[in-house]
Order: sequence, then structure tokens, then C-alpha cells
Amino acid sequence: MDTKIHFTLNGKPVTYDGNASNRLLDVLRDYYKLTGTKCGCKEGECGACSIIMDGELINSCMVAMGRCEGADIMTIEGFSETERFKVIDKAYGAVSAVQCGYCIPGMVMATEALLRKHPHPTEEEIRDGLSGNLCRCTGYNAIVRAVGIAAK
Ligand code: FES
Repeated sequence: MDTKIHFTLNGKPVTYDGNASNRLLDVLRDYYKLTGTKCGCKEGECGACSIIMDGELINSCMVAMGRCEGADIMTIEGFSETERFKVIDKAYGAVSAVQCGYCIPGMVMATEALLRKHPHPTEEEIRDGLSGNLCRCTGYNAIVRAVGIAAK
């Protein structure tokens, strides 16, 4: 049975009319065409689907639409419109932190969530903050450097 679910998506009020048990990840990609949020594992392990929901970094593959009523959701598309994104984008570019790029939208959302909590993180805090995000190109060291630059 379809349900109407009201929430804020990238700063705009929206109403999703569909199955409440659908995954937020699938709804973002298929219903709202926000394909910057990537699908890696659908098991909460890779972080490719990371978004910020009510101020917290979450794996959108692990959230059913029924939990989204009244939520404030930001995807990489919404975040890319902000000044904070420009800082992080520039930092990633400065150290060539992007290889294939598949993990990067999730990494960027994890970076933003980390810097909100720790504006001047230690390397340990950076590695911990990104620990839920996998990079198959093994580019972690450059990504950690980029987060450090973004924090300056
Ligand atoms: Fe959600 Fe991997 S697709 S954590």
C-alpha cells in the first residue's frame, strides 16, 4: 500500500507517494533521480550511499521510507550547492584524492559530517570519521590529507 511521506530534501519540502518499506537509497536514485548517492552493497557496509539526515551521517540503504516522515535530508546534490562543498571539493582536488570517483559522494558527505563535529580533527579522528566509507582504489591516505586541508 502506498503512503504519502513528507520530508525536506535538499532544502525543499517534498512528498513521496509510495511504499513506506522502500529503501531511501532507491527512492533518492529512482524516484528523485538524485544519482549522486551511490549504491555499493545495500548492507550498510560501504558508505557509498551516505547522506546527512537530521544532521547525522547515515547509510541511506539502511533507512526505510517510513522513517523519513518529517526528516531533513541532504544528498550530495544539495550539499554541492553550498560554500562548504567548495572548500571540501578544492581540498580533494589539491591532493588528487579522487581516483575512480565512485566512493567520493559518500566520502564528501562523511567529510562534512565529520567536520561539523570536529572542525579541527586529528588524523585519528579523520580516519575514524571515514571508517564507514570504503574506497576500492585504496586512496585513503590522499583522502585523509584532503580532509585535513579542508579543516584548515
Ligand atoms: Fe549503503 Fe553500501 S550501499 S552502505
